[in-house]
Amino acid sequence: MTVNVGFLGTGIAAGWHLENLVTMQGVKVAALCDTAEGKAAGVAARYGGRPYTGYEEMLDKEDLDALYVCLPPFAHAEQEIAAAERGIHLLVEKPVTLDPEQGRRVAEAIERAGIISSSGYHWRYYNTVDRVQEILAERPIGMVLCRWLGGIWDAPWWRDRTKSGGQMVEQIGHFFDLLRYLLGEVRSVSGGLSHRGLIDDVEGYNLDDVSTVNLRFESGVIANVSATCMVQRGYSLQIDFLGRRLVLELTMGRLRIADGDEVTVVKNRVTSELSSHFAALDRTFIEAVRRGDGSAIRSSYADALRTLDLVLAVQRSIDTGETVVLHGKGK
Ligand SMILES: NC(=O)c1ccc[n+]([C@@H]2O[C@H](COP(=O)([O-])OP(=O)(O)OC[C@H]3O[C@@H](n4cnc5c(N)ncnc54)[C@H](O)[C@@H]3O)[C@@H](O)[C@H]2O)c1
Repeated sequence: MTVNVGFLGTGIAAGWHLENLVTMQGVKVAALCDTAEGKAAGVAARYGGRPYTGYEEMLDKEDLDALYVCLPPFAHAEQEIAAAERGIHLLVEKPVTLDPEQGRRVAEAIERAGIISSSGYHWRYYNTVDRVQEILAERPIGMVLCRWLGGIWDAPWWRDRTKSGGQMVEQIGHFFDLLRYLLGEVRSVSGGLSHRGLIDDVEGYNLDDVSTVNLRFESGVIANVSATCMVQRGYSLQIDFLGRRLVLELTMGRLRIADGDEVTVVKNRVTSELSSHFAALDRTFIEAVRRGDGSAIRSSYADALRTLDLVLAVQRSIDTGETVVLHGKGK
């Protein structure tokens, strides 16, 4: 079966997914839609497919099996519901929305239609993350320290909090999602802090330059997550899992395991090609659509909504300094 794929939003993320899809057997890039005049046509010239500027026209005219939604966070409205009602399977890039109510309506439409859904939280598919999961099944940990030290994302909407949700919501969501995946649900978020005023040379920028927050998981494990977008792009993205004489250091490129006096390193199978970071996610989604079986998908739309609830609680603690209780009682 050839899987006919459509795209909504043809920017940076869409380009990375397209790089993977065109290398796959039995996948056809059938249609692309972007409201920016000429943008979809330019991308179609490279990857194939018919260009559109209106998603309803594309969904009506094309016979799509799957739709990749790669829109800026603020731009999600009725598109996913329109696709679900037509029985089109969905991969929605993260954060899947900034509006939890809109997200819940989409999740209900997905449920009603019985379609397959995936989000863009690709760290869940890393072989290094599988190894962390194996170790955590055997060895308890007490604390996790996360740091995302990087720069401002290229897309113009990213620097405007009303459009991106801010760094913690849009970017560090990757870490919060991974911690939920590996450690379970968060009971409470507390100690949110931020600082601004160092980035004063970027037009339209209104984000926190630096921010930090603490988490308490239902298991009792504690975590600190700290981030900045004022240093060099990709300077240091790392998560340290700490147990008794055990330190697991996870970065994009590798997992370093210090167990007692023994140190081993597991290399992440993704390559330096950024699109490859999506490869396992794309392969899993396309195979799920081909087989009509979503059981291998590691982050569904509904699950990504739970990550949204967490990152919005994180931002609330940062904005107000209050403790936000998500599950269970107390800090
Ligand atoms: N999973 C990841 O690691 C990853 C990496 C990069 C981006 N993303 C996510 O992908 C999404 C897109 O980010 P990007 O970096 O590709 O942004 P981008 O600005 O490069 O691309 C977005 C595209 O959407 C188009 N667009 C805007 N509103 C639209 C609408 N209503 N209908 C159709 N097209 C519309 C814009 O013209 C633009 O071409 C964001 O949610 C971002 O967080 C995820």
